[in-house]
Amino acid sequence: MTITKETVQQWAADFDAKTPQEILALALDNFGENAAISFSGADDVVLVDMAARLGKPFRVFSLDTGRLHGETYRLLDKVRDKYKVSIEICFPDATLVEEMVNKKGMFSFYTEDHKECCGVRKVAPLRKKLATLDAWITGQRKDQSPGTRVSVPVVQPDAAFSGPGKSLVKFNPLANWTSEQVWDYIRAYEVPYNELHEKGFTSIGCEPCTRPVLPNQHEREGRWWWEEATKKECGLHVVNLK
Ligand code: ADX
Ligand code: SF4
Repeated sequence: MTITKETVQQWAADFDAKTPQEILALALDNFGENAAISFSGADDVVLVDMAARLGKPFRVFSLDTGRLHGETYRLLDKVRDKYKVSIEICFPDATLVEEMVNKKGMFSFYTEDHKECCGVRKVAPLRKKLATLDAWITGQRKDQSPGTRVSVPVVQPDAAFSGPGKSLVKFNPLANWTSEQVWDYIRAYEVPYNELHEKGFTSIGCEPCTRPVLPNQHEREGRWWWEEATKKECGLHVVNLK
């Protein structure tokens, strides 16, 4: 089935007020094994739980940057065991990582910016993975970032990762949910979660680039805290940067 841009835009309008489960079902029904959930090991774990409860086959992948927290690796395995789903781990290209760290050390992102490191460790492996898929499903929400995510639709064409003759579709089933709704769901369904959430972390990325936030600080203030809010995207969601 060829999905046109117009169809995707129509879905975005028709499904904007639907539940995350309905949006997830739309993705799985239309793309089957050519779609996969992009799981970061944070509260986007609700997508895996929802997919499992839908009772439809689904795929999950994670980008292992090599710099994730131990707690995140432990959650990946808990999820793998509980839901009996293979989490497809995507590693960065070893030669590119070696070149970067041999030249600039392990923490170049503090003195430059995070673009190069995220490019090598996250974006390139994501691009490689997405080249094998027709759709991906993310845990992005509007309330995650007043700076960059307020307009995230429930489904969109992903021009940033589409190639010649291939148009990729990006589903964001949690776009209209709040963090509170996500956490109500996690508690109600006893979904396994990242232990870092018990230590003051809200948004979770790589260990050197994520820190806990204080009460009333916005969740993404703990990510790349040395950079401006409008730059707090690592390139996975470049379509958010206008
Ligand atoms: S990021 O771009 O700043 O790193 P964020 O942590 O807010 O993203 O996560 C938003 C969504 O991006 C996640 O729900 C997930 O779908 C995807 N994502 C982020 N990091 C990863 C990762 N390491 N592996 C797979 N998906 C990821
Ligand atoms: Fe590198 Fe930090 Fe980006 Fe992780 S979040 S890939 S450590 S710059």
